[in-house]
Formats: sequence, C-alpha cells, structure tokens
Amino acid sequence: MSLFRRKRVADLQVEVATDQRLKRALGPINLISLGIGAIIGAGIFVLTGQAAAQYAGPAIVFSFILSGLACAFAGLCYAEFASMIPLSGSAYTYGYATLGEFVAWIIGWDLILEYLFASSTVAVGWSGYVVSFLKDLGVTIPAAFTSAPYNHFTPAGAHWWDLWQLFVKGWIHTGAVLNVPAMLVVAAVTVLLVIGIKESANFNNVIVALKLAVILTFIGVGIAYVKQANWHPFVPPAVGPGKFGWHGVLRAAGVIFFAYIGFDAVSTAAQESKNPRRDMPIGLLGSLAICTLLYIAVSLVLTGIVNYKQLNVSAPIAAAVNTLGPSLDWLVYFIKIGAIAGLSSVVLVLLLGQPRIFYTMSKDGLLPPVFSAVHPRFRTPWVAQILTGLVAMLIAGLFPIGLLGELVSIGTLLAFAIVCTGVFVLRFTDPQIPRPFRAPAFWLIAPLGTGSCLFLMAGLPADTWARLIVWMAIGLVVYFAYSRRHSRLHHGLLGKTGASR
Ligand code: ALA
Repeated sequence: MSLFRRKRVADLQVEVATDQRLKRALGPINLISLGIGAIIGAGIFVLTGQAAAQYAGPAIVFSFILSGLACAFAGLCYAEFASMIPLSGSAYTYGYATLGEFVAWIIGWDLILEYLFASSTVAVGWSGYVVSFLKDLGVTIPAAFTSAPYNHFTPAGAHWWDLWQLFVKGWIHTGAVLNVPAMLVVAAVTVLLVIGIKESANFNNVIVALKLAVILTFIGVGIAYVKQANWHPFVPPAVGPGKFGWHGVLRAAGVIFFAYIGFDAVSTAAQESKNPRRDMPIGLLGSLAICTLLYIAVSLVLTGIVNYKQLNVSAPIAAAVNTLGPSLDWLVYFIKIGAIAGLSSVVLVLLLGQPRIFYTMSKDGLLPPVFSAVHPRFRTPWVAQILTGLVAMLIAGLFPIGLLGELVSIGTLLAFAIVCTGVFVLRFTDPQIPRPFRAPAFWLIAPLGTGSCLFLMAGLPADTWARLIVWMAIGLVVYFAYSRRHSRLHHGLLGKTGASR
C-alpha cells in the first residue's frame, strides 16, 4: 500500500492558514489576466494555422469547440482539486495529498511534458515570428540556423505499439543545423529567472493587454476580408487517417489543445489571491472562457481570409494578413511584435513553473537533493532552473514545433484525465475534506472530463502515443529505482514536521 501513501490534507490546510509570508494582493481580474498571460501563445499564433492546413481546414473551429469543452470539464475538476488545498502548487502537490505518492509521481512526470517541453515548443514558435520579423527588416538569417535539424515521419497505417518504427526509425535529418533563435530565447529567459527577476502582475497585465489588442485587431480588421469561398467545403473530405474529414477535426482538437494549456497556472497563485475560495474558479474558468471565444473567432477569420492550405508556415497569422495587400503592412508588424512579446512571456511562465515543481518533488525526496538547491544570493532554485533551461534549449534547438506540440498535448491531457478521475474518486473515498469549490454535477462533469481528455488523446497520431509510452516508461524506472526508495514520506521524515500519515 505504500505506493498510495499520501500527505495529510489537514496538515497542508494548517500550513496555508499559518503561512502568511506571501502577500494576498490578487483579485479576480488579476487572476484572469494571469491565466490569459499563460494561455495565449504558440497555440493560437502558430499551431492553429498549421493544424488547419494539415488536419482540419476551416473545421478547425469545431476542433476548438471540442478541445474547449474538454478543458472546461477539466477546469472545473481542477478548480475543485485546487480549492481543497489552496497552497501554491501544481497538480503534483494536490495529487500527493489526495491520491498518493505513485499517482502524484505520474502527474509530476507528466507535468514535465507540460512545462519543460511546452517551453521549448513556444520558443520554436517565437523563433518563427522573430525570423519573419527580421526578414521584414531586411535581415535574413540562413534557414539552416532557424529550423529543426530533425523531424519524424510515420508511415501510414503504423500502430502505436510498433515502438521501434515509431520511436527509433522514421527520423529524418532535414539538413538544418540548429534552431538558434529558439535556443537563445530559452537561454535569455533562464538567465532572467536565475537572477530572480520574477514576472510581476503588472508586467503580465501589460503583455496580456498587448496580446489581446493584437488578437482583437486581427479579428476586427480581418473580418472585412473574409471570403466565404475559403470556407467551402467547411469540413474538407478525408484524404487519409487523421487528414481532414471528422477524424481530422478530432486530431486537430488534440493538437490545438496546446493552445489552452496554461490555465492551470492560475492555481500556482493561490496563496497570493485575496479570496482564493471565490476567485480561483473565477480565474481558472474565466480565462478559459475568454480564450475559447477568442480562439473560435480567430480560427474563423484566419481560415476565411486565406485558403487553409496556405497556413502551414511558421508565422501563419502574419502570413495570412500579408496576402491582403500592402495597405495592411502595419497590421503585419503589429501582429509580429505582439506575438514576439506574448510568446516570450509564455516561455517565461512555463520556465518559471518547471523548476518549482522539481523543487517540490526534490523536497519530498522523489528527485535528488540538487533539484532543491536554492541560490544563497538570488534565492531561486538555480540548479533546477539551469538544468531545465539547458534541456529546454536542446529540445527547442533540435525538434520542430508540430512534433513537440503534440507531445505536450498528449502529456497534459493524460495529467488532466488523472485529475478528473481523482476528483471523482475522492468524492467517495474522502467526502469529509472541505471543498470550498465543488464541481457542479461532479458525477457527470468528472467522467466527461476524463472521457473527453482520453477521446482527444485517441485522436493523436501513433508516433505521439509511442513517445508518451516511452516517456512514462522512463518515469516508472526512475520512480522504482530512485524516488520510491528516497521518498521522505516513506522514511517518515515528513511525519516529523507533521505533514504525513
Ligand atoms: N497555451 C500556451 C500556448 O499556446 C502554452 O503557447
């Protein structure tokens, strides 16, 4: 049963009540803004265009609705989970207190896909917009240094269990050397984070305002240029598994799920929220609702102003406006500047989150102590931050955005499916734990959350599944070889401070 040993919720709640070091300054608007700051990024600025071009056509709108629904169910469960333990934390912390060490480990290992790999993905998106902006200014960086040297091609009809084919074979060398701008942005943000420049709520608000202005201007101006012919056929006929037709819509929904990732970042500010019981769900669900509406509008306009086949480029929104003639050059610049600033802030939030999860896992003994080393002067988890930065740089330099985005989506979907299942099970196993926010009709919402996440996962291609399976297998080896044996809870060490049972 030690696999299911867990921290005590009651102890964590006492910790919240007595820990007053963080300033409770954030109201609902700040929390919504925090959510939007983490959500709007490479998903809408890059992946939407690419997924429309490759998988769904204009029907990408349905993909956004499908994915948004899955996120709404998961968001409601997440809000209940977070409100049970209103400590700054992640699904890992909540999982440890409610579902036990093993499930917490799986969630934590999955969150590495969500944060570390996603920061690389967004960095690749950033690179695409920077390169295209520099080109407008007359500066051309050779393509060999701005794109991924490796990509993977999956033969049609490959099965997810054919790990050899999907994981080892099928890699191609594209001829490029490294995606240098993507690596540089990760390096720059890592340096900032090590020396402790934290994104303040005000700075975030400015970037969010800029991102929203760009998106709203694109929608407002673009709508006048929509040609209905571009929407016919709205659901292009299928040309293979996952390529257009309804199967393509499902696949694209799994891909653009990436665009919604980040709303859970709101929960990391629980201890800085003035009234977390009321405002956490408002922040989580409010930011999600606003982004869903914007995404649907952007995808309609985007596929309305150009034919979706033209969108498989590294800066699709700017490329679409480019086709509208020189009178809109100002908008192209505005979009690129907004995307560059906006994507930098998403890289920052993601790279800020990962070492803090490593830090907590290391304090719990599940990762080596070096991950919780705090710099004496900067007071940041600097070793974990630098390790995260180095790995993220390498990944951003080597792989293309599509491959990375799908891996991040499948990993995060799995984490959300576990959260929804956990919230459901806990209502029966631990009904007594106070739940300041309760997901409405949990008997329906939680299973729908799990089901819709699994459904979106099912739409993703076999090679992405193979990568997830290999990633989780590595996680299990690490857990049984190291973490389980070094767990502080296992050794009763957390018990000494009254935080275990
Ligand atoms: N949702 C974030 C993005 O699209 C991760 O960049």
